[in-house]
Amino acid sequence: MEQQDDTPDTIGNARASVACMTECLRADMPRQPVVHVEAIRKTYGKTVAVDEISFDVHEGEIFGLIGPNGAGKTTTMECVEGLRRPERGAISVLGLDPIRDAYALQNRIGVQLQEAQLQKRVKVREAVGLWASLYTKPVDGTRLLEQLGLSEKRDAWFMTLSGGQKQRLFIALALINDPEVVFLDELTTGLDPQARRAIWDLVRGIRARDKTVFLTTHLMEEAERLCDRVAIIDHGRMVDIGTPAELVLRHCPERTVFVTSDDPAAEERFRAIPGVALVSSDGPRYTIRGSGADLVTRVIGCLAEHRMGVVDFRTEVPTLEDVFLKLTGHSIRD
Ligand SMILES: Nc1ncnc2c1ncn2[C@@H]1O[C@H](COP(=O)(O)OP(=O)(O)O)[C@@H](O)[C@H]1O
Ligand SMILES: [Mg+2]
Repeated sequence: MEQQDDTPDTIGNARASVACMTECLRADMPRQPVVHVEAIRKTYGKTVAVDEISFDVHEGEIFGLIGPNGAGKTTTMECVEGLRRPERGAISVLGLDPIRDAYALQNRIGVQLQEAQLQKRVKVREAVGLWASLYTKPVDGTRLLEQLGLSEKRDAWFMTLSGGQKQRLFIALALINDPEVVFLDELTTGLDPQARRAIWDLVRGIRARDKTVFLTTHLMEEAERLCDRVAIIDHGRMVDIGTPAELVLRHCPERTVFVTSDDPAAEERFRAIPGVALVSSDGPRYTIRGSGADLVTRVIGCLAEHRMGVVDFRTEVPTLEDVFLKLTGHSIRD
């Protein structure tokens, strides 16, 4: 009797075509969000820390929860990490339940907690070694420290590190298991501007390696420069969500252009620009206000068309800070 033709090759081919079909199906299907949060609520006694918050985090993006201290950012993030259980609502991370599937998720997520601390006299390489021992497939710790610019501090005690170095170490620990999603809570709080910029570059580097970054910050400039999308949180509620540019255009479409020109017809010409709502002047210095993303282009077009001499030119575009004020009626620093 002839042997059934299930040689490894045939099985291999069959597997390959099933994999290909699955891949093709996947290409057509909308991608599942990496993090899905639906109407979660979390209270501490009488304090409602998180109230009906919903959002998705997509694969490969840097997503930020932004809002002032006490807004509910850490509580939300800790619910997503499976460290706290919301009283209501649903959460999934990589398609899994953060509490029920905590064990399965442990190898796939990386976490840096707000106000994290280590023992004073633990050495950098010891901390990395200890963290690596907790996971089944850790990355090479020496290489990781190199990538984060900490090679020279391998033998330094934790207590001797600067604020920026400590934060870089915490990023290293969050990356030790080569996670698909990294959670970073107020990563740059307390750092000087230079150290902050260095951390931003590191976070961009994490995204460049196809990982998803979910962070919180109360620094609007940080959110604006670093995040692909942000959710604004205030008093436990989500106020709006979108890219920083979308949010600015949606809520603060006003633009201001300052031009210094001694052209005698300047004021009249500026007033004739479509979209301009107001022109005021102080001698040769004009302030032109209007709305829409193309206001600046129109002003430049006017200057070029009339060959007007310009001594000074400056624009003022609203920021996420202005959006926050507009949406909540109070400044983020209050
Ligand atoms: N463990 C806790 N026990 C009681 N109240 C808490 C606890 N953690 C946070 N809160 C309160 O919940 C609210 C949200 O806090 P948090 O999530 O830490 O906000 P954020 O990270 O935006 O600063 C605040 O009013 C805070 O005081
Ligand atoms: Mg916090």
